[in-house]
Amino acid sequence: MQPISSADNTRRPVLPILALSAAIASFLIWLIYFKGKVAAPDWVLALPAANASFNALSALCLVLGYINIRRGNRVTHMRFMLSATVFSALFLVSYITYHFFHGDTRFPGQGWIRTAYLAILISHIGLSMVALPLILAALWYALRSQFVFHRRVARWTFPIWLYVSVTGVIVYFALKYIRSE
Ligand code: HEM
Repeated sequence: MQPISSADNTRRPVLPILALSAAIASFLIWLIYFKGKVAAPDWVLALPAANASFNALSALCLVLGYINIRRGNRVTHMRFMLSATVFSALFLVSYITYHFFHGDTRFPGQGWIRTAYLAILISHIGLSMVALPLILAALWYALRSQFVFHRRVARWTFPIWLYVSVTGVIVYFALKYIRSE
């Protein structure tokens, strides 16, 4: 009988993770662009600020988690990365709640600032769809103590997730403060 190598022994969660990510992404596209408006209660207006705060907290935890694994502090790394996951999950719930009531928000700026905004927004949306399956895979491998695979996936997950969190905050401030001339 062939010996079981560590690769054979590893359950690859690729299909369920991709299916779940595609389902969430399709749901969000429908929610934002096709569902149509519903009358919004006042508290909904506070959600964009909450979303930006969750993104900022997630980015902070990611940086602290990364610094800690580079210093060899595995338990602290795990705590910060799980906190980043919780903040991003809270962001997703709050984002879905906001878009249940609101469609997409138009950016009023013109000229080069509009080009810069759209470049950030499009890369933010595109990479958020890539980040979701990567986050699930990095967590899956970490929580099953498959750290060789975890490290391989997490090296991509970390910068992409950080970019998505930071640009989420930038998009919030751009929509709040930039007006058309
Ligand atoms: C999805 C969230 C996570 C991300 C983005 C992430 C990110 C990373 C990164 C980038 C590395 C490689 C660092 C390097 O270049 O040396 C790493 C390593 C590591 N992570 Fe995570 N991590 C996450 C969650 C976790 C969790 C929940 C645990 C614990 C259960 C964990 C435990 C570890 C360990 C033990 C290593 C060292 C692996 C080795 O050197 O072989 N990580 N992580």
